[in-house]
Amino acid sequence: MQLPLSYRVIATVLAFLAVPVTGCANANASEPAAPLAVAPVPSNGLAATPPMGWNSWNHFAGRITAADVRAMADAIVANGMREAGYVYVNIDDTWEGDRNAAGDIQPNDKFGDMKALADYVHARGLKLGIYSSPGAKTCAGFAGSHGHEEQDARQFAAWGIDYLKYDYCGARDIYPVTQRNQEMLFRKMGAALLKAGRPVVYSLSQSGEFDIWRWGPQTGANLWRTTPDISDDWNSMSQRGFRQLELSAWSGPGHWSDPDMLEIGNGGMSTDEYRTQMSLWSMLPAPLLAGNDLRTMDAATREILLNREVIAVDQDPAGHPARRLERQGDVEVLVRDMADGSVVVGFFNRGEKATVRLPWRRLGNRFATAAQARDLWLHTAIDSMAPFVATLPRHGASLIRVIAATR
Ligand code: GLA
Repeated sequence: MQLPLSYRVIATVLAFLAVPVTGCANANASEPAAPLAVAPVPSNGLAATPPMGWNSWNHFAGRITAADVRAMADAIVANGMREAGYVYVNIDDTWEGDRNAAGDIQPNDKFGDMKALADYVHARGLKLGIYSSPGAKTCAGFAGSHGHEEQDARQFAAWGIDYLKYDYCGARDIYPVTQRNQEMLFRKMGAALLKAGRPVVYSLSQSGEFDIWRWGPQTGANLWRTTPDISDDWNSMSQRGFRQLELSAWSGPGHWSDPDMLEIGNGGMSTDEYRTQMSLWSMLPAPLLAGNDLRTMDAATREILLNREVIAVDQDPAGHPARRLERQGDVEVLVRDMADGSVVVGFFNRGEKATVRLPWRRLGNRFATAAQARDLWLHTAIDSMAPFVATLPRHGASLIRVIAATR
């Protein structure tokens, strides 16, 4: 039976008012905003240190295929990245096909047999990651997990998936964009992954809305994006990285803030700028997910991504955050305490060529009389107890690990 016109007008106005003015909620969404209530999700015990690996989006975006993923897995083994700790090979958006009659998500033609791909990656001692959304559609308009959360978590487990990036995106078209709705939808998949029973690193993606770092842990997630998408340029990278310093208290073993993936080797920044991204992400510390074509890395890209001494800073088991010691003009001086009692000092030049100077006693009394220091980019010892002095190129960085001789 048709409702009288006046009722339909009122209903339309009410529906319109329920749509928030921010975000991109869709007034024509077929499903109404539903109140969700999902209990906090316990930790899965994964990601004691920030995840390391590779993700398809920054270089391949929507062009990624299963053949490319296989090639990246081969390259990670051949170029030494696996041995350096890069173990997750993560497929981002655009792998998704239609659901079958039973509602099971199927890979599209670019991917074919996902189980076979997982087997291929696992056979090389690596782990496979995948991407979905709590919306009906992903950011790129492919099928999301809305209404199929448990079914998809089971499917991912059956394929052998080890990592899920879960991007809020299309959920904006279904639910008003509120913290509660985001939190509940992220919890829903967190609970589904635990129930499916396979260890899966759970990575949330939105742009840091509603201070996600405050409530991310209760969704069962291991990491959450804190910023809009990175691009391959200095301003984008440096703003995201340094902004992270304000959020350091919210990050630690098992639950990491994620200022987005690495752009190292993608061509838009200088070698010094890429060295800064690697240094800054390692100091924070942040996930190290390479985003370049691993088959065609030049020597500078290899040297940056494979710097074991810098990776060791990122992967330090204590997971303490970096803090700002001081600013010297355009140079940020950051420090980070390591599990072994040493301190890593990061000098980050956000301006033109500059000289920095730092007496080690600025790091504390135990460094005042005798300290050993090591330059983690030059791989050399620094013996002198005189104040450390270095000249940094424009947008360059230097990482020095300082060990108190008498502890
Ligand atoms: C969003 C994410 C990106 C990427 C794309 C895929 O923009 O922030 O990292 O996953 O979606 O569509």
